[in-house]
Amino acid sequence: MKKVTVPAIRSMKSSVRIGMLTAYDYPSAKVVDAAGADIILVGDSLGMVVLGYPDTLSVTVADMLHHTRAVVRGTQRALVVGDMPYLSYHVSLEESVRNAGEFIRAGAHAVKVEGGKPSRITTIAAILDAEIPVMGHIGLTPQSVNALGGFRMQGKGADEARRLVDEAVALEEVGCFSIVLECVPAELAAFITERVSIPTIGIGAGPACDGQVLVLHDLLGIYDGHTPKFVRKYAHLADDMRVAIEAYLLDVREGRFPDVATESFHVGGEEELKRLYGAQQVKVVTS
Ligand code: KIV
Repeated sequence: MKKVTVPAIRSMKSSVRIGMLTAYDYPSAKVVDAAGADIILVGDSLGMVVLGYPDTLSVTVADMLHHTRAVVRGTQRALVVGDMPYLSYHVSLEESVRNAGEFIRAGAHAVKVEGGKPSRITTIAAILDAEIPVMGHIGLTPQSVNALGGFRMQGKGADEARRLVDEAVALEEVGCFSIVLECVPAELAAFITERVSIPTIGIGAGPACDGQVLVLHDLLGIYDGHTPKFVRKYAHLADDMRVAIEAYLLDVREGRFPDVATESFHVGGEEELKRLYGAQQVKVVTS
């Protein structure tokens, strides 16, 4: 098993398609890693699919670090990327670098930062200068949901498309090792993928990107909130979980769980019980 590194991801450009998924805890990271994901993103989508917020804006650095540590403990092979949450890289360069460093101290190998405007490029440069690899993220950047007026496709008009191409080039030039393209037309994603020398990883950005990412809870059918058009559900685990939990509750209520022979502990027969507990009323449990 060879650990995936930042240079390894860079070298996959145009040759091997990169498979990336989110994970937020130890057991799911173990499964995603064992399944062969190249990159595990501890996404701030945590806020929506795990913590139940309507968007990602309430997620704090402390929330992210708590979950990053759990994911790191469950990961052996994949590159772990920590998603810098809202306000963790918006206030000052010093605070941004310190927050990014906390992800590295939590065991992440890189951080992801949303946006590609000039002031963001300056922030990313400062984080890179602290030897912290950065994954960019442009298109629909969920932390800008209020400014964008909702979760909707970006890069539709010529001006917007040109701006996104410029941002992708700026992220490449500053030194990002890859870029997430979220919710942009497939043709624009293909153009950007051709234009930059670092891997693009698409979510709702068509098939031409160098890799793809999905939110684990969407793919597994655990999250019951809005499911965007670009999600393919590979399972319906919320339904499976409910069936299992209902069966358990029925067994409890009807006295079928636990089974006395296979799911219970015993210390011996009547004589042993009398010797241990001394009381006449202690009986062997048989059903
Ligand atoms: O937070 C997240 O899960 C993300 C992915 C959708 C790229 O940013």
